[in-house]
Amino acid sequence: MTDPEAVETREESVYQPSPEFVRRANVRGMEAYRALYARAERQPEEFWGELAERELFWFEKWSHVFEWAPPFVKWFVGAKTNASYNCLDRHLATPRRDKTAILWEGEPGDQRAISYFELHRLVSRFANVLKARGWRAGDRAVIYMPMIPELPVAMLACARLGITHSVVFGGFSAEALKARIQDLEAGLIITADGGWRRGREVRLKETVDEALIECPQVRDVIVYRRTAGAVSMKAGRDLWWHDLDEGASDVCPAEPLDAEHPLFVLYTSGTTGKPKGILHSTGGYLAQCVATMKWVFDLHEDDVYWCTADIGWVTGHSYIVYGPLAAGATTVMYEGAPDFPHFDRFWQIVEKYRVSIFYTSPTAIRALIRQGEQWPDAHDLSSLRLLGSVGEPINPAAWEWYHRVIGKGRCPIVDTWWQTETGAIMISPMPGAMPLKPGSASFPLPGVQADVVDVYGKPVEAGKEGFLIVRRPWPSMLRTIWRDPERYKSQYWGRLPGVYFTGDAARRDAEGYITVLGRVDDVMNVSGHRLSTMEIESALVRHPSVAEAAVVGRPDELTGQAVCAFVTLKKGAADHQQLGEELRRWVAHEIGGFARPAEIRFTESLPKTRSGKIMRRLLREIVTTHSVTGDVTTLEDMAVVSRLAAED
Ligand code: WTA
Repeated sequence: MTDPEAVETREESVYQPSPEFVRRANVRGMEAYRALYARAERQPEEFWGELAERELFWFEKWSHVFEWAPPFVKWFVGAKTNASYNCLDRHLATPRRDKTAILWEGEPGDQRAISYFELHRLVSRFANVLKARGWRAGDRAVIYMPMIPELPVAMLACARLGITHSVVFGGFSAEALKARIQDLEAGLIITADGGWRRGREVRLKETVDEALIECPQVRDVIVYRRTAGAVSMKAGRDLWWHDLDEGASDVCPAEPLDAEHPLFVLYTSGTTGKPKGILHSTGGYLAQCVATMKWVFDLHEDDVYWCTADIGWVTGHSYIVYGPLAAGATTVMYEGAPDFPHFDRFWQIVEKYRVSIFYTSPTAIRALIRQGEQWPDAHDLSSLRLLGSVGEPINPAAWEWYHRVIGKGRCPIVDTWWQTETGAIMISPMPGAMPLKPGSASFPLPGVQADVVDVYGKPVEAGKEGFLIVRRPWPSMLRTIWRDPERYKSQYWGRLPGVYFTGDAARRDAEGYITVLGRVDDVMNVSGHRLSTMEIESALVRHPSVAEAAVVGRPDELTGQAVCAFVTLKKGAADHQQLGEELRRWVAHEIGGFARPAEIRFTESLPKTRSGKIMRRLLREIVTTHSVTGDVTTLEDMAVVSRLAAED
């Protein structure tokens, strides 16, 4: 669970949307929200059927809207559609043809404005390249790229042909990349020489080369030239994007694909050492992405919309690429770090492109608060009209700063709760419909039957903490875990009978506002990145000096949680500071820099139950409260705990 500080709510502060905002909003007032919600609840088929028909293009219509054979669901059964067609072709016969689709800024300051017409051309050409190499529907591609327009181009080209893509965040190490390529049995890798981050080149191709040593099934590696850094190209396997692009045709019709066709797999951390490949479909996913663009971001034709996430995470998939493009928006994309070259890079971009909707993470906000108000104050932020937050609970103090300093008290904030598994936003204010309470994600969106329940699945009273669950399937729900339907069943549908278990704790107040408190399982949230304690533990015990490791999240003012590892060493290994540093580097090597422990604590032994299970709960308590008050009756050796607490 996260820092209790971070989840405190001040019931007295409620923020009403301004009359000007409400006047223009897509959903106006609480009654309008309630009516939409009630309709979706009572007539889900009609509700989603009408929405999908209005907002998306279908080559063929469905026979029925959904089929629920718990815990497996299908949406828009029998329909044919294509995500790439919906994001591109559909706009070409409208005035959006010449509208800017992607407004991109590289870290060094280079810029590109790509219209829907041009994006369609780029995607069609690259799809033809893939086709010519023999890739087709059902194949899998791993995409490992910097935040440049060719990343969405690659995704949309795959989607155009029905190649299931899996984007791997550029911060993942060769080990992590390899595990994903192998699990997916991907034959195609799309990458770049490198990208820019804080003025330095992140050498992606080098990491790919290291990962591929143990991936013999990979036949093609397509490399985009971004940094012009030195790369080695393996003959017969590695191909330059620009060579293949030469002479490719601009015409590549989108394949009519089943609505349930797997659009992408995105790996995320779960409660075991092995990441889960979350599988998303096409039709249902797109429908909910587009719907939430309108409901949550209140998207209008003239908006300039910017989500600062990386496309390597689900937020970037749904709210930089598929949601905004399917909705015909102008989506801003930035390659680099928020503090490069200075702490005002975000505000500089907002000012320069006249961004009207800005979506970021609480960690980014907290980091910017530290640097002071002079950075945002030096820029004209008057184009902003709506702000968003995602990835972790936002503490009321950060919320209020965001509202006052960035939004100038004028912009509503949408605190959006969702997960890789949910595909799209599930709980969030509709900004023209409801008053806001700092720290609360407020109400479930239409079609989302969220509830807060106890261990028996019974709704808890107002104000009490419980498990956040969802009762009915929603269109953008994950369909399964790649090649592991049993894990899908037990992980999400086996914890409390008949309902989707989110893994989060929440509380609902007397007015129905939901506040999400944090994870109740062995998943941590560090800077809004999901990390599994087990994954880091397995990385640690792969180190030759480590006997055992237990990892817990420690509250952190900046990153929400920080990784704290308790380590016992093999005989003969010395627990000096150098080894601590080495282990931190080791985890970065095994998983990625963002998983590097903030702290390594060496200990003689770890607290365990009599059956030998490490009691992480106790360790969590030690790092949170510096003492142990909880139940220790199953503990094997009380002395270990007192020692650990005393050392703290
Ligand atoms: C947490 C990111 C509180 C939560 C889209 C969830 C949040 C996990 C919020 C999913 C929020 C996300 N308030 N907590 N607004 N949004 N979370 O899969 O613990 O990377 O289960 O998806 O982030 O993380 P994931």
